[in-house]
Amino acid sequence: MSYHIAEADLDDAAHAAGLVHCIDSYAAEDMGGGHALSDEVKRALVPGLKEQPGRVVLLALHGREVVGAAVCFMGYSTFAAKPRLNVHDLCVLAAHRGHGLGRRLMEGVIERARAAGCTQVSLEVRADNAIARRLYQSLGFGAGFAAMDFWVRPLP
Ligand SMILES: CC(C)(COP(=O)(O)OP(=O)(O)OC[C@H]1O[C@@H](n2cnc3c(N)ncnc32)[C@H](O)[C@@H]1OP(=O)(O)O)[C@@H](O)C(=O)NCCC(=O)NCCS
Repeated sequence: MSYHIAEADLDDAAHAAGLVHCIDSYAAEDMGGGHALSDEVKRALVPGLKEQPGRVVLLALHGREVVGAAVCFMGYSTFAAKPRLNVHDLCVLAAHRGHGLGRRLMEGVIERARAAGCTQVSLEVRADNAIARRLYQSLGFGAGFAAMDFWVRPLP
């Protein structure tokens, strides 16, 4: 069975369930923080995603099975006065790694950003995620600023 990359159809039950499974698997891994998604988040994920007008969601498929995903959101660069596409999640299920799917997903993301007139594709990557960093560097990504921390303010 061959692999291919496709735009996610969030109204397709197999795409929706497969996407949730990929994000859940990623979240449960060390690189995703080590905590699987709660049932509540799993239920809300796709309905909430559908409400995000700037979403770009690509899937890696093995036949009909979703084995990888790139979830991105369109933002805007005030310094360039152009849209910028941010990669929020990139993941390939462990059993399907090393077949070029991460690269193909990212190439698809870059292609869509270019078609939308974006100035950049941005992403956050952990300092200890050597595999992802190598992939991103090979695609031309590099640090936008010398040092940048990703800070959050939880809103309980
Ligand atoms: C990062 C990830 C998406 C790569 O997916 P993949 O389909 O296995 O990647 P590919 O087969 O397309 O390989 C792309 C590149 O990644 C790097 N890479 C992949 N596997 C690697 C390994 N085991 N060791 C070192 N580099 C590796 C290489 O640079 C490779 O390019 P090359 O084959 O030309 O040398 C996947 O490992 C993953 O889902 N990891 C967990 C989630 C994660 O860390 N996401 C990124 C968050 S920022």
